Amino acid sequence: MLNIAVLGCGRIGRMHAENIAKHPRANLAGVFDVYEPAAIEIAAKLGVTRFETAQALFASIRVDAVLIATSTPTHADYIEQAVAAKKPMLCEKPIDLSLDRVDACAKAISGTDVPIMLGFVRRFDPGHRAVRKAIAAGKIGNLHQVTITSRDPGLAPEAYIAESGGIFRDMTIHDFDMARFILGEEVTDVTAVGSRLVAPDLMTKYDDYDTVVVTMVTASGKQAVITNSRRATYGYDQRVEALGDLGMAVSENRRIDNMTLHTETFTAQGAPLQNFFIDRYAEAFAAEINSFVDAVEKGEAPEVGFDDGRKALLLAEAALRSLAERRTVNVSEVG
Ligand SMILES: NC(=O)c1ccc[n+]([C@@H]2O[C@H](COP(=O)([O-])OP(=O)(O)OC[C@H]3O[C@@H](n4cnc5c(N)ncnc54)[C@H](O)[C@@H]3O)[C@@H](O)[C@H]2O)c1
Repeated sequence: MLNIAVLGCGRIGRMHAENIAKHPRANLAGVFDVYEPAAIEIAAKLGVTRFETAQALFASIRVDAVLIATSTPTHADYIEQAVAAKKPMLCEKPIDLSLDRVDACAKAISGTDVPIMLGFVRRFDPGHRAVRKAIAAGKIGNLHQVTITSRDPGLAPEAYIAESGGIFRDMTIHDFDMARFILGEEVTDVTAVGSRLVAPDLMTKYDDYDTVVVTMVTASGKQAVITNSRRATYGYDQRVEALGDLGMAVSENRRIDNMTLHTETFTAQGAPLQNFFIDRYAEAFAAEINSFVDAVEKGEAPEVGFDDGRKALLLAEAALRSLAERRTVNVSEVG
């Protein structure tokens, strides 16, 4: 049994805590949150220890590994503390919103053999993963183009937008990682456009965008396009498509059920899309924990690590520069 403690009992921390508690080869070793009521609630609900401080959690011999699900600005500090305490970790994305802080963290932990897994959960979605597998198995021949559609069902609250670090670092970051995962090679050039169509006043206030398209190219000429919107009235739109010279692989949206309706006036109608990430990626979040437990048990490197987090952030920086300067940016220009 791997004893995993969870830092952060917010929206996503509580879901991870429940998944760990349910895992057959893991045990929830306790929780910590600076906001005590959140930690008290989860500790009581799941019948586990509430640590009084992060230091007590890292020092505990009853904790083998940690899951960092706190607010983004705390991740790099906690990664450094987990490495110092020699606790393997699964850290939520992003590592930090600042590339300088990510690089300082990389320097502080350089040479460590403590496993660090980064929470790019979409890599564990059965559909998206099957696209990658089909490409690797040669089913669509040589890969030419990847198209990633990622649209939120509704605009996040103003307080969230204000702290998010902007759409590229907050939302597109998942798609940058997905593009690297599906392409199977590094992106060299990035071109981005952005508009303020969903909430123009709010986006202007925070110098952000709610509607973006990013085009990317690899050294061998493979292309990827990401389309993001902060609001799609029909629900959480999550699709990945890969085109090769022998065919196409598509990971489709998931619906609440698979019923189709046939009447005199429609031929078919699907149920609504699954609502948001906790539902849409429920299987992926459970598979992510499983992958972390496997890696730590087998002493293998986690499937998605610190460097993947840094590379996704580099693509976000390149997209920001492309949008600001209205030109294609070579990734080497940003770091
Ligand atoms: N993988 C995904 O799809 C996904 C989805 C949502 C959020 N996230 C990431 O997960 C992280 C948490 O997001 P959330 O939506 O759960 O936020 P949240 O605000 O609901 O929860 C964050 C929690 O961290 C606690 N916290 C803040 N500073 C702390 C500290 N120093 N020590 C301990 N606890 C501290 C807060 O009190 C809060 O309870 C963010 O980094 C976010 O980017 C990832």
